[in-house]
Amino acid sequence: MNIREEFPMLSKNIIYFDNGATTFKPQMVIDEICDYYKNYSANAHRGDYNISLKTDMMYENARKKIKDLINASSAEEIIFTSGATEGLNMVVEGFFGKILKENDEILLTKSEHASNILPWFRLCKKNKCKIKYIDLDENYKVTLDNVQKAVSSNTKVISLAHITNVVGDIRPIKEIVEYAHSLGILVVVDGAQSVPHMKVDVQDLDCDFLAFSGHKMCGPTGIGVLYGKFDLLDSMEPYNLGGGMNLSFSSTGEVEYKSLPQRLEAGTPNIAGAIGMGAAADYLKILDLDKIHEYEVKLREYLVMKLKALDNIEVYNESSESGIVAFNIKNIFSQDTAIYLNDYNICVRAGSHCAKILKDELEIKNTCRISLYFYNTKEEIDKLISVLKNSDTLFNQIL
Ligand code: ALA
Repeated sequence: MNIREEFPMLSKNIIYFDNGATTFKPQMVIDEICDYYKNYSANAHRGDYNISLKTDMMYENARKKIKDLINASSAEEIIFTSGATEGLNMVVEGFFGKILKENDEILLTKSEHASNILPWFRLCKKNKCKIKYIDLDENYKVTLDNVQKAVSSNTKVISLAHITNVVGDIRPIKEIVEYAHSLGILVVVDGAQSVPHMKVDVQDLDCDFLAFSGHKMCGPTGIGVLYGKFDLLDSMEPYNLGGGMNLSFSSTGEVEYKSLPQRLEAGTPNIAGAIGMGAAADYLKILDLDKIHEYEVKLREYLVMKLKALDNIEVYNESSESGIVAFNIKNIFSQDTAIYLNDYNICVRAGSHCAKILKDELEIKNTCRISLYFYNTKEEIDKLISVLKNSDTLFNQIL
């Protein structure tokens, strides 16, 4: 069967180029979620009856599938969250909130997503630590050299997207981690745009934390994963306290927490979400993430080549290595372009894409973003190009 036929949303006569925002779901993921709700819909870790035991098994199996997907050392290092945003907030507050002090430095870049900047802003206010931005090169990329220049004796943590959501550059995380660790600096990785698109092996990267979301990798919304090295997660202050994460507590306030991973998963988890995300991990493994990446790189090259052949288009990240392409029709506001494309059932995202200080580097506030996935095709790109070609006539009439 053609892969596209496995996605109900792809039969709807639209061209979907907004996979950086969220991806479509294959029928097998939808079926797994429905199966839970229809056939064994109990809580996890609470019941002694068959459907609850099945729920436990499916929930913990999903954890193992995610562990395999990113090659974590153990399933205890996989914490289910509501998404990459929650994972990053948990790390910043629960781990670094306990250890960062006045004048300690956090290294970020200006192309990070809001979820890898705003939690750090808040921590800096509270703990009086400081943010320093690593310079980007002329293609808005991070180089090891620039990381080394930004590091000082006060640097305690480097927190970076693996692939950024507007520029789409793939950061040399493994080299950065090696260098950081040689100085005792920890590295947090926002994997929201990488885990769905390429093989990410946390043992090989040796990163300390990695956060990502289910819905950007063919899974459901409202579920994500925080990976952390066991000892680091184990020393983390739980973000939420409540049922499911404690072993005992007394009327005088003594609380004994459970061990990982339950310790960091208070309350009824998003069971259907986790099961769906596990199914999505299976799906991506079958497709092979190396092949997905290879396909997206080729499709990206084709897209950039076609866009550059148009006189009225400016591409901002020509040399990036992922399926993310940021562009504008010259002299046209990005949202007008997105609305124009929507008339032809072409979905792209326009705006600052939650990377609101990237404008300091890119010198442009708003862009249109095409973010490809393995189910996009050259034919879809050809259609986009023909629509963009004709845009001149329309916008010239308006202007
Ligand atoms: N972070 C998502 C994006 O880049 C929503 O579109």
